[in-house]
Amino acid sequence: MFARDDQSEGAPCLRRQGTATRLVVDGKPFLILGGELLNSSTSSLEYMKPVWDRLTRQNLNTVLAGVSWELIEPAEGHFDFSLVDGLVKSARAHGLHLGLLWFASWKNGMSSYDPLWVKRDNLRFPRVRFSNGSVPEILSPLGTATADADARAFRALMKHIREIDGQAHTVLLVQVENEMGLYGDSRDRSAAAEAAFAGQVPIECSRYLSAHSRELVPELRAPWMAAGAKTAGTWTEVFGRGTFTDEIFMAWHYARYTERVAAAGAAEYPIPFYVNAALDGPASKPGEYASGGPLAHVLNIWQAAAPHIALLAPDIYSPNFAERCQQFSRSGNPLFVPETIRGPVSARNLFLAFGAYNAIGFSPFAIDAVQPVPFLPESEADRAAVGAVYGVFRQIEPLVLEHQGKGDMTGFVLDKEHPSLRVTLGGADLEIGLDDLFDQKAEWGSGIVIAVGNGEYYGMGSGFRVVFRALPGGTGRVGLGAVDEGVFRAGLWIPGRRLNGDEDDQGRAWRFNPWALQLQHCALYRY
Ligand code: DGJ
Repeated sequence: MFARDDQSEGAPCLRRQGTATRLVVDGKPFLILGGELLNSSTSSLEYMKPVWDRLTRQNLNTVLAGVSWELIEPAEGHFDFSLVDGLVKSARAHGLHLGLLWFASWKNGMSSYDPLWVKRDNLRFPRVRFSNGSVPEILSPLGTATADADARAFRALMKHIREIDGQAHTVLLVQVENEMGLYGDSRDRSAAAEAAFAGQVPIECSRYLSAHSRELVPELRAPWMAAGAKTAGTWTEVFGRGTFTDEIFMAWHYARYTERVAAAGAAEYPIPFYVNAALDGPASKPGEYASGGPLAHVLNIWQAAAPHIALLAPDIYSPNFAERCQQFSRSGNPLFVPETIRGPVSARNLFLAFGAYNAIGFSPFAIDAVQPVPFLPESEADRAAVGAVYGVFRQIEPLVLEHQGKGDMTGFVLDKEHPSLRVTLGGADLEIGLDDLFDQKAEWGSGIVIAVGNGEYYGMGSGFRVVFRALPGGTGRVGLGAVDEGVFRAGLWIPGRRLNGDEDDQGRAWRFNPWALQLQHCALYRY
């Protein structure tokens, strides 16, 4: 089906630029304008046939798609990659890249995608135990034979991906497992887990905490310091008593297990691997949310335990999008949003992710759903919102990539609670606020502004206005020299209308009105 292919120089990898980390493919930086498929879509190539055109119509460049352990290894040691082959072929035929989701030992905390030969053998592949004695359908992260079996399958998958895609690079990255973490108890109470919990914190963990003590997230640093910043001891000696210690213990074990799987895959084809997190609620406790999952407050535990995992990625369905981006941008963790809602809110949030947090990608969930999904109430127009923004965003993608991590770009979402912000960009002071509509403030504004030097800026978005001021101590004042709408074609700026008069409030502000998505250039002058 595929010519044998060996890994080339340009295989996807992550590279730093200033304060940002970029995904680099074939030597060029790449921004994932993505969407994630419903969980079961890729279990049937037939089902997928009409889906591909719908995806390209949404202007995606990358699709996140499930590959399940159960379907690639139905009998132990017997692999069937026909679904993977079909997926890669169809993605290529539609000019799309792929992120693969390795649905294996855990999916949303449960173990539903492991093969039946794993599910049936509870002795070799032990399950967790809750404190009330019950044994749910959840594999224990302390099961070493389970980790080995998962790792063997993942290694076979990555070997196959290298063989069919090591040159073409359709597959950009792989998510290892899905939304790990224990629901129902704060930690596993199986015999193996109890013994490990009574034992010493592994030396790799305590050494990492001491070596990185200044970069630790405060939620982790505080209990560790309060317990005496110990470099040895049991889990309760090092982290104190309480369910947070249970969570740290689980995080270590989920992460160690994941590391075994990821390292096995990397031995064949080391492209970026990541894990995704089901986020904790405001007042919930470990076990009510996924205890030990790759959450922001245990970020450093995951970093210590799983060096083959390049990043922890939040699935952001909650309204506090900016706060979540910030939490997952700490301790050097690059931001990637693999799942979020589809509608107009996401069409605004993507500016924040790319412009303010240097995200490597953004990807609403259920991108192939044509019917409203029960947990994502949305209209047909809502479903088109992100795709419409992607369509225009593709024009400025090279500019965004060029400026990520350099301190001359910002992205924002404005609303009644956050009506304005001030930033210094390109040697001027910018006050960015909600646009006015016939003396009424717009309800929403969102966009991205990039300073490209010489007092010139590009902006994209809607519902905001920018007032420029000279920096304190600078000479003279600044005014709008020229404002143009336009398009980028093959990387070249083609100006359209010159925007004066009402369009720039007679020279007072660089405006992006609320009823259209605009791309504009403006040049300042001094007087
Ligand atoms: C998050 C999971 O990661 C997805 O696979 C899917 O189950 C969604 N939740 C559904 O809300």
